Amino acid sequence: MRLRRLVARGFRNLADLDRELPPGGVALLGANAQGKTNLLEAVYYPVLFRSLRGAPDQEVARFEGPGFTVEAEVEAGPTATVAASYAAAGRRKRISVDGEEPARLADAVGAWLAVSFLPDDVALATGNAAVRRAYLDRLLALADRRYLRALSHYRAALAQRNSALRQGRSEVASAFDAPLAQAGAEIVAARERWTGEAAERFTAEFECLGEGAGTRLHYRCGEGLGQAESWRPALAEAMARDLARGMTSVGPHRDDLVLELGGKPLREFGSNGQQRAAAVALKLIELASLRAARGTEPALLLDDVFAAFDRDRQARLARRLLAGPERQVFLTAPRADELPPGLDLPVWRVENGRVIA
Ligand SMILES: Nc1ncnc2c1ncn2[C@@H]1O[C@H](COP(=O)(O)OP(=O)(O)OP(=O)(O)O)[C@@H](O)[C@H]1O
Ligand SMILES: [Mg+2]
Repeated sequence: MRLRRLVARGFRNLADLDRELPPGGVALLGANAQGKTNLLEAVYYPVLFRSLRGAPDQEVARFEGPGFTVEAEVEAGPTATVAASYAAAGRRKRISVDGEEPARLADAVGAWLAVSFLPDDVALATGNAAVRRAYLDRLLALADRRYLRALSHYRAALAQRNSALRQGRSEVASAFDAPLAQAGAEIVAARERWTGEAAERFTAEFECLGEGAGTRLHYRCGEGLGQAESWRPALAEAMARDLARGMTSVGPHRDDLVLELGGKPLREFGSNGQQRAAAVALKLIELASLRAARGTEPALLLDDVFAAFDRDRQARLARRLLAGPERQVFLTAPRADELPPGLDLPVWRVENGRVIA
């Protein structure tokens, strides 16, 4: 899958742009604060219709501007145009695929596929469980729209259940047990299935990056919660505690994707290099999982990731990340000498929000 043309207006500091993109991708060079990451953010926006930095839309809109528009012309067999526009007045967002507004956001998600890797993504290995849950949710939502629907049903049921718990109304809270169990079991089962397949690949990728053996990836969740029937007793058992705390303590919103090295948590005992390698390995698996689920190669967005590695690791990483004739890559670096060796991509410059080919 390739991005053929990108339109961005009113987006961060970027000057309004409408450009064709090279099929293999492009290397974006420019000094700090010129707009390189902003451009990657614009490329990624129509994947999930939100900022890849997790910023709210009002922050993505150019300062003092009326809002923004992003349009991605995607070539994936037939061409599709995926667009989003956000109006600062009223904070309204409109999404379209080939000019049609989908009934649900979920129906538009995945028409354009990309995987991003930002410097902050090392938090996949060093951060708390919420970072890894977000990773799983993004990946599985892009792989399968049913997951995204289950996730939104789950979040709605959870929010209402928690609100009832905070008010001390256990009977009202219990009314949400069935929808919570239904959606929650679907989420847990999908995460378990994915981890079962990804575990071996994680170990292999980690070794391939030259950071040693003995890593393990597994999913930690409440016993049996992949089946809806297990929820009733689990929720009943937790009810007294949940009422006291005013929140639901059972379910996939509490789970973790655990990374271990030699039987110990990588988060606490891994070296910086090992943690970075684990994060890269997870990104490579994200790419492979999406390719397998969707039957097309997602684009790869790499934001200033090579600088943190020594020359030898850069070369290994470049071989893993930039391989594949179908892959379109967008990568950024402040200077040409920070690009990985042997890179064969056209170079564009980003200066003060302008993109110069
Ligand atoms: N909503 C916005 N409107 C206008 N400008 C913005 C907005 N949000 C961020 N900026 C500005 O955009 C500029 C470029 O940001 P960006 O993160 O893309 O830089 P960069 O080229 O990736 O730099 P670095 O190499 O330091 O990562 C920053 O100076 C930032 O203040
Ligand atoms: Mg940047």
